[in-house]
Amino acid sequence: MVTDKFKRPMRDLRISVTDRCSFRCGYCMPREVYDDHEYLERSSILSYGEIRRITRLATDLGVRKVRLTGGEPLLRTNVHRLVEMISDLDEVEDLAMTTNALLLAREAERLKEAGLDRVTVSLDALNDQLFRKMIDTDVPVATVLDAIDVASEVGLEPIKINTVVRRGWNEGEIIPLLERFRGTGHTVRFIEFMDVGTLNSWNLDEVVPSAELVEMIAKRWDIEPAESNYRGEVASRYRFTDGGGEVGFISSVSAPFCGDCTRLRLSAEGKIYTCLFGSDGTDLLTPLRSDASDEEIRDLMEQTWTKRDDRYSELRGGTPLASPKVEMSYIGG
Ligand code: GTP
Ligand code: 5AD
Ligand code: SF4
Ligand code: SF4
Repeated sequence: MVTDKFKRPMRDLRISVTDRCSFRCGYCMPREVYDDHEYLERSSILSYGEIRRITRLATDLGVRKVRLTGGEPLLRTNVHRLVEMISDLDEVEDLAMTTNALLLAREAERLKEAGLDRVTVSLDALNDQLFRKMIDTDVPVATVLDAIDVASEVGLEPIKINTVVRRGWNEGEIIPLLERFRGTGHTVRFIEFMDVGTLNSWNLDEVVPSAELVEMIAKRWDIEPAESNYRGEVASRYRFTDGGGEVGFISSVSAPFCGDCTRLRLSAEGKIYTCLFGSDGTDLLTPLRSDASDEEIRDLMEQTWTKRDDRYSELRGGTPLASPKVEMSYIGG
């Protein structure tokens, strides 16, 4: 097992399979920027075989959890084949996908059959008009809600719902979202708006600290803190004392969790990053395509991890640090 400068092991691999997305959430891919954006070229994107090889080598270094992200991972053709190839690796104990769910109803069954364990669905509002405004795209919220039901029916569970909260936009959706999902076995997690990348006009005034949400929710239901499920869990969780399940909070701004960060990220073009707020990745595509041996590629990954000293969110405080940061749609959520 390899560890970094702060003794953090490499446990999770988050794989971005495409930098494209069908939605234009303002906090991630604002339309004014992304309608005229140069996406990665097909030829510079890792093949499924290449992704599998990197994943296999990552498991040699300690990785046990894998998440497929994007952009929107279901936009990549036949992504269930990749699921099959990764779930086939014995060391991978948990294989999940983060999706906007536009194509999920159609894909759910074959993803499950291919070996996907569970999905996390992004959903920022239940109100149809506000949902469309958040994603800045003409898709009804019912499409996402139906897809969640289908995913649940085929057993892609436990399902998590990721809700990015932006002040002035969707605080009014917190209680309705919980009303809808309490008691279903799905867990809603509220995410503080983060300063990922440089294109999403982030500003601290739009961050709603999780403590404020906890207070709001506690006025409506009786909740108590729950213990974390595993070391490095991103969300802090509260339990509804009436048995209605749990609610999670991802507080990267108000309560950073870098101390336990065990995540390695792989971009669609084959660069590995040791922080969501990174600027430089280590290129694996070139060695992969110039016949490097397994040992050489593994060494490169190991060196990247052992020299890692990232803790961006802890250092940031309320002010984004001035560094060129990669975008969320490029590096994956
Ligand atoms: P589980 O295995 O289901 O617990 O997944 P997770 O919470 O690690 O993954 P998920 O993709 O659902 O993460 C939720 C959100 O948390 C992401 O979309 C990001 O917004 C944020 N997030 C995840 N990992 C990190 C991280 O390492 N640093 C920061 N700052 N935010 C993160
Ligand atoms: N801040 C917080 N969360 C974000 N996501 C995307 N951009 C941001 C941001 N700026 C979340 C999405 C999705 C996941 C991929 O990342 O809601 O759930
Ligand atoms: Fe697409 Fe997800 Fe980004 Fe929204 S948050 S634009 S759905 S990748
Ligand atoms: Fe990990 Fe970087 Fe997020 Fe901190 S800011 S938790 S080091 S990805």
